[in-house]
Amino acid sequence: MHAPILMMIIFILLSSTTPAFSSYTSNNFPIAKPNCSDTCGDKSIPFPFGTTPECCISQEFRLTCNHTSFDPPKLFHGETNYEFTDISLDGQITFMNSIAHECFNSNGTRSSNFSEGIRLGSYFTLNDTANKFTMVGCSAIAVFGGTTTFNQSVVIGGGALCSTEAELSEGTCNGVGCSQIDIPRNVWEYFILIQSWTNYTDIWDFSNCTYAFVVEESAFKFSKDNLTNLSRVKSLPVVADWVVRNETCDMAMGNATGYACVSANSACYNPTDSYGYRCRCKDGFQGNPYLSQGCVDVDECLNENIHNCNKHAICTNTIGNYTCTCPKNYEGDGMGEDGCKEKAPKDMKITYIAIGVASGVICLLLGIILLYLELKRRSDNKMKRKFFLQNGGHMLQEKLARREASPEMVTIFSSLELQKATNTFHSSMIIGRGGFGTVYKGVLADARTVAIKRSIRVDPTQIEQFINEVVVLSQINHRNVVRLLGCCLETDVPLLVYEFIGNGTLSSHLHNEAKARALDWTTRLKIAAETAGVLSYLHSSASTPIIHRDVKSDNILLDHALTVKVSDFGASKLVPIDLAQLSTVVLGTLGYLDPEYMQTNQLTEKSDVHSFGVVLLELVTGRKALSFNRPVEEKSLSNYFLYVLKQDLLVKIIDEKIVGLGNMEQISRVCKLAKECLNVKGEDRPSMKEVAMELEGLIRREKHSWATNVDDEEEMKSLIPNDHDGTSGVGYDSICRDHIVLPINGGR
Ligand SMILES: *[C@@H]1O[C@H](CO)[C@@H](O)[C@H](O)[C@H]1NC(C)=O
Ligand SMILES: *[C@@H]1O[C@H](CO)[C@@H](O)[C@H](O)[C@H]1NC(C)=O
Ligand SMILES: *[C@@H]1O[C@H](CO)[C@@H](O)[C@H](O)[C@H]1NC(C)=O
Ligand SMILES: *[C@@H]1O[C@H](CO)[C@@H](O)[C@H](O)[C@H]1NC(C)=O
Ligand SMILES: *[C@@H]1O[C@H](CO)[C@@H](O)[C@H](O)[C@H]1NC(C)=O
Ligand SMILES: *[C@@H]1O[C@H](CO)[C@@H](O)[C@H](O)[C@H]1NC(C)=O
Ligand SMILES: *[C@@H]1O[C@H](CO)[C@@H](O)[C@H](O)[C@H]1NC(C)=O
Ligand SMILES: *[C@@H]1O[C@H](CO)[C@@H](O)[C@H](O)[C@H]1NC(C)=O
Ligand SMILES: *[C@@H]1O[C@H](CO)[C@@H](O)[C@H](O)[C@H]1NC(C)=O
Ligand SMILES: *[C@@H]1O[C@H](CO)[C@@H](O)[C@H](O)[C@H]1NC(C)=O
Ligand SMILES: *[C@@H]1O[C@H](CO)[C@@H](O)[C@H](O)[C@H]1NC(C)=O
Ligand SMILES: *[C@@H]1O[C@H](CO)[C@@H](O)[C@H](O)[C@H]1NC(C)=O
Repeated sequence: MHAPILMMIIFILLSSTTPAFSSYTSNNFPIAKPNCSDTCGDKSIPFPFGTTPECCISQEFRLTCNHTSFDPPKLFHGETNYEFTDISLDGQITFMNSIAHECFNSNGTRSSNFSEGIRLGSYFTLNDTANKFTMVGCSAIAVFGGTTTFNQSVVIGGGALCSTEAELSEGTCNGVGCSQIDIPRNVWEYFILIQSWTNYTDIWDFSNCTYAFVVEESAFKFSKDNLTNLSRVKSLPVVADWVVRNETCDMAMGNATGYACVSANSACYNPTDSYGYRCRCKDGFQGNPYLSQGCVDVDECLNENIHNCNKHAICTNTIGNYTCTCPKNYEGDGMGEDGCKEKAPKDMKITYIAIGVASGVICLLLGIILLYLELKRRSDNKMKRKFFLQNGGHMLQEKLARREASPEMVTIFSSLELQKATNTFHSSMIIGRGGFGTVYKGVLADARTVAIKRSIRVDPTQIEQFINEVVVLSQINHRNVVRLLGCCLETDVPLLVYEFIGNGTLSSHLHNEAKARALDWTTRLKIAAETAGVLSYLHSSASTPIIHRDVKSDNILLDHALTVKVSDFGASKLVPIDLAQLSTVVLGTLGYLDPEYMQTNQLTEKSDVHSFGVVLLELVTGRKALSFNRPVEEKSLSNYFLYVLKQDLLVKIIDEKIVGLGNMEQISRVCKLAKECLNVKGEDRPSMKEVAMELEGLIRREKHSWATNVDDEEEMKSLIPNDHDGTSGVGYDSICRDHIVLPINGGR
C-alpha cells in the first residue's frame, strides 16, 4: 500500500542527486596512478605528485598526507615540508609560508623576530603574477633577495611607514602601514630581511611589529588590525609554478624514457619566459596528460558553455571535438547564433524552383512570341507599305489630295478591314472566280455588304492607268453600274471593293432553265436596253471614254428587281504580267471578243459594241456565247448566228421561251441590231448610243403600240442623231428576211 509513495520518494531522492552524479562524471578521469591515493582530505593529488615513490614521478613531487596530527589532514611537500593547499595540473601549487616579523614590547624592547630563507625545490618557482612581496608595519623596512632558475640573484626592497592611526586606510595597501611590490620571475630560492626603523614606542598602541612576506595577492587584504594581529598568523598562501622537468620540450621529446607527456592526445609546452616544460591535454580532451590514457575526450555537448552549437542544433560529440547538426527543416552549419535557420520545406523548395524555372521559360517564350509578333507586324507593315506603293497607293493619295477624286467617292480600305469583312478571305465567302481573279462576299464593319475582287497582279507599267481607272470608276454613279466603293492597295494584288449585287449574273439567269423561263421578252429587252444605256453613257459622257472591254452576260449583274448592274468596268485594263501571253484571252472573253481588236490590238468603243452584239444574241437565243458541247458549226454563237442568218433559219435558234404574241417583229429588230453590232469592221458597227436608242425605241414603241402605235417613224427619226456617218444600217434589209422590217436609221 505504501509502496508507490516509497517509490516516489526514492525517485525524488535519485532525481535530486542526479546533478551530483553528472558533475562527477564531467571530471570522471583518473588523476593519479592506479592504486595511488589521489586525495588528501579535500585536496586532490594529481600525478606527477604522489605520496609514495611509485605514485610520483620523482622525489621532487613526493608529498605526505598527515592524517595523524591534523583534522582535516594536511598535505606536505616532502623536500621542503611546506604545506600544499592546492595542486593544479595547469602548473601551479599553493603552499603555506610563514611571515617574517619583528615585534616590540610597549617599553621599546624587541619581543620577537622571525625571518627565514625559503628553498622551493628544483622544479618550483614563485609565481610572479599571483604573488606580491608585502610589508606591514608603521616603521617597517624589508628586503626580498632571491636566486632565479638561471642562477641570477635578484634583490628588491621597500618599506611601510606611518605615524598616526588616522592615516591608515582600511582595505588598501598603499604604502601607509602596508605596501606591496611585484616579485621577480623564476625565483626558486629566496630570503626576506626585515628592519624596524624605530622601536615602535611612539605608536605602540596601534602598531607594535614589522612584518614582511610573500603572499598570494588575492589572499591578503590589509586591515589596520593586521598591524598587530599578524603575529598570531602562522602562514599565508603563496603560489608557485611547477614544471615536470627542467629541460625544454625539444630536449625532452628526444628522451624516450624520461618524457613526461605520456598520454595520447597530450602535448608538451614550455612556459613563457620560464624553464622546463609541462604537459597538457590537447583541445577537446581533458584529464591528466602525465598518465598514459590520462587525456580523455571531453563530451562538449554536455556543457553549453563549451560547445558553440546553435540552440536548435543537435550536438554530437566526436573524439576530440563535436559536431553541430541542424535538425530537420533547418539549415546552416549549426554553429553560433545564426547557425540554424528555418528553411523552406524541400518540396516547397522544389516547387519554388519549378515555379521559377517555369515562369522563366514562360517569360522567355512570351518574349520570343512578342518579339516575333512585333517583327512580323513590322514586316507586315513594311510589306503593306511596299504593296501600297507598288500598287500606286501614293498616286491615289496624291489624287485624293488634289481633289481629283473625293474621299467620299473612293475609300482606301486597309487590308485588316477587308480581312475582317471576309473572314480572312475564307473560301466560303467566294462568290465568283474569273480570269481576273476571285470575288469574295464581305460584310464591312458598318454592316454594308460588299463584293471584294481580288484581281491578278497589276503590270507595274500600268499602275498609273489603273489608279486613274479606279478614280474614274469610283466617280461613276449610274443606277445600272455596280459602284466601285474603294480599293485596298496594301496587299500584293490590289483589292477592289464593289457594292454587292445579290441576284447573280445575267448569264446565270439565261443558262438556267427555270430562271430563263422567268425572263420573258419584255424583261430581256429591258435588260438589253439598260446595258446598252450604261455602255453608251460610259462611252460618251465621262471626260475620257471608258471602254468596258469585257462586255458579256457574266458581267451583267441583276438585282432582285432584275435591274441591270454592269460590273467590271475598266478592270480589263489590268494586264496580268504573268499571263501576258494570254492577254488576248483575258482582255475580253472568247466568244465575245472583237475580231478586229484581235487583229489590230487597237481597242475602241466598237469592241464593246461587238461584245454587246453577242450579249443580244444570248438574250434572243438563250444560248451561250461559246458552247463546247455543241456541233462544231454551232460552237461560236456569233458565227452560228451569222450562219443561220445566211441560211434564213433564224427561227431555229430563237429561244422559244420568249416567242410570244406579236413580239416577233421586235425580236427580228434585235436580231438585225445584233447583226450590225457583229460587223467585222468596227467602223461598220453602230455606236453604243445608237444601239441604246434603238432599244429604247423598241421598248417605247411596244408601250405605244398598246396605245397609239402612230408616229413611230417620226419618233425614231427624232431620237436617233445623225452624227455617225460610218454606222449605216443600209443594205441589211435582207438579213432578217422573214417578215422583218428594218426602219432603223438607214434613211439618211
Ligand atoms: C593495487 O593494489 C592491490 C591490492 O591492494 C593489488 O592487488 C594490485 O595488484 C595493485 N595494482 C597495481 C597496479 O599496483
Ligand atoms: C604529522 O605531523 C606531526 C607534527 O608535525 C609529526 O609529529 C608527525 O610525525 C607527522 N606524521 C607523519 C606521518 O608525517
Ligand atoms: C602588540 O600588541 C598587541 C595588542 O595591542 C598585543 O596583543 C601583543 O602582545 C603586543 N605584542 C608585543 C610583543 O607586545
Ligand atoms: C621592559 O623590558 C624588560 C626587559 O628589558 C622587561 O623585563 C620588562 O618586563 C619590560 N616591562 C615593561 C612593562 O616594559
Ligand atoms: C626606544 O627608542 C627611544 C628613542 O628612539 C629610546 O629613547 C629608547 O631608549 C629605546 N628603548 C629601548 C629599550 O631601546
Ligand atoms: C633576533 O635575530 C637576531 C639575528 O638576526 C638574533 O641574534 C636574536 O637573538 C633574535 N632575537 C630574538 C628575541 O629572537
Ligand atoms: C602564475 O599563476 C597564474 C595562475 O594563478 C598563471 O596563469 C600564470 O601563468 C603563472 N605564472 C607563471 C610564470 O607561470
Ligand atoms: C651560481 O652562481 C654562483 C655565483 O654567482 C656560483 O658560485 C655557482 O656555482 C652558480 N651555480 C650554478 C649552478 O651555476
Ligand atoms: C588582518 O586583519 C583582519 C581584521 O582583524 C583579519 O580578518 C585578517 O585575517 C587579518 N589578515 C591576516 C592575513 O591574518
Ligand atoms: C635539472 O635537474 C637535474 C636534477 O633533477 C639537475 O641535475 C640538472 O642540473 C638540472 N638542469 C638544469 C638546466 O637546471
Ligand atoms: C632521460 O630521462 C631520464 C629520466 O628523467 C634521465 O635519467 C636521463 O638522463 C635523460 N636523458 C637525456 C638524454 O636527457
Ligand atoms: C572542432 O570542430 C570545429 C567545427 O566543428 C572546428 O571549428 C574546430 O577547429 C575543431 N577543433 C579541433 C580541435 O579540431
